[in-house]
Amino acid sequence: MKYSILILNGPNLNLLGTRQPEVYGTTTLPDIEALCKAKAEALGVAVTFAQSNHEGAMVDMLHAARTDHNGVILNAGAYTHTSVALMDAISSTMLPVVELHLSNIHAREDFRKKSFIAPVAVGQICGFGAAGYPLALEALVKHLDSTV
Ligand code: DQA
Repeated sequence: MKYSILILNGPNLNLLGTRQPEVYGTTTLPDIEALCKAKAEALGVAVTFAQSNHEGAMVDMLHAARTDHNGVILNAGAYTHTSVALMDAISSTMLPVVELHLSNIHAREDFRKKSFIAPVAVGQICGFGAAGYPLALEALVKHLDSTV
């Protein structure tokens, strides 16, 4: 496999499918994992899919990614808007991170417009629902290709 990529999902994303379907759609997290696995196979990369409701556990997973993965796709959920710890973890690992959101965070409440992830991310994909995940994978692989 060309690269190994961690796809890390934060709080409440385990409830996708039933959680505010008018905002996040009806696709479940296992559905999204299947979408990512299919896209990864087509791209010739390996993916590890993870979810945690705990900020510290996410920091630990980002640290571990330093040795285990070439890059990260991160949907940090609500921690996007609050977590200096996740921002610092990304800066510390120096791994390329693509920030991802199902919803368009810029078209919602004002507090969602602030992202602590954006300044330390390669780029951001938001507003395309579950389809954003394979898009993010493609973008990250292109980014990794351009840096080797
Ligand atoms: C989200 C957007 C966040 O503002 C929210 O807290 C989430 C999900 C998204 O994927 O659209 O939990 O990251």
